[in-house]
Amino acid sequence: MSYIVKVADESHSQYAESICQMMADAAKIRGTGIAKREPAYIQAKMAEGKAVIAFDVNTVVGFCYIETWEGKKYVANSGLIVHPEYRNTGLARAIKQATFDLSKQKFPTSLLFGITTSQAVMRINSDLGYKPVPFSELTQDNAFWKGCESCPNHDILLRTNRGMCLCTGMMYDLSKTLPKPLDKKKSWENFRSFMTERKERIQKKLQKFPFLKPALKNLKSNDE
Ligand SMILES: CC(C)(COP(=O)(O)OP(=O)(O)OC[C@H]1O[C@@H](n2cnc3c(N)ncnc32)[C@H](O)[C@@H]1OP(=O)(O)O)[C@@H](O)C(=O)NCCC(=O)NCCS
Repeated sequence: MSYIVKVADESHSQYAESICQMMADAAKIRGTGIAKREPAYIQAKMAEGKAVIAFDVNTVVGFCYIETWEGKKYVANSGLIVHPEYRNTGLARAIKQATFDLSKQKFPTSLLFGITTSQAVMRINSDLGYKPVPFSELTQDNAFWKGCESCPNHDILLRTNRGMCLCTGMMYDLSKTLPKPLDKKKSWENFRSFMTERKERIQKKLQKFPFLKPALKNLKSNDE
């Protein structure tokens, strides 16, 4: 299985429909965590040079794009998708690295962040140097949070005043020089210990907000 990963441009507009379809199919299977996107939006990202696309010859097999919030204070790498037949081959890692490099090049002083329930994305982000953060440190731009409205868990976000949800927030300060690469094992151990602490924090919060218990009970791994 071979593919190339590159920065997208207008010449890739014709692939926007297939990309949206891949996202919609994945959202149906996962049931959470993937906001709905329209082809025109994807085409605009391509035209602005704010997207990364992967091809196997002429078939689009992966995609991700950059969004900015509160001017250029915050940047997010959103809409990551890999064609089901190309998963577990390192393609998401390659696309995220290319989108990270493009973000650093275009927005060198911004705070790069993401929210996700995907274990694969958490692994990739922590290897890139992202740190887990509470939602209060993310952009407060309503337009960003509007993207969560198509998620079936949106009611949790509303009930907690955007304080918490099933996603984990992660951030990387692009203005900082790249950290010394941690070895992968150490970086994953750091992330796991954060998740253990997070679980303890959530359990404490559940005592305060007991209405969240049923939603969290149904929480299963959202990874396919
Ligand atoms: C999530 C997704 C992008 C991962 O793509 P992928 O190309 O299979 O990922 P990679 O092969 O680059 O794997 C990256 C890492 O995640 C791990 N990983 C991949 N799929 C995983 C899964 N389902 N559960 C746990 N870990 C997983 C891999 O083992 C790898 O870790 P390692 O390098 O430390 O061994 C892909 O499954 C997808 O498109 N899913 C639907 C859309 C989606 O969930 N997008 C993310 C929204 S936040």
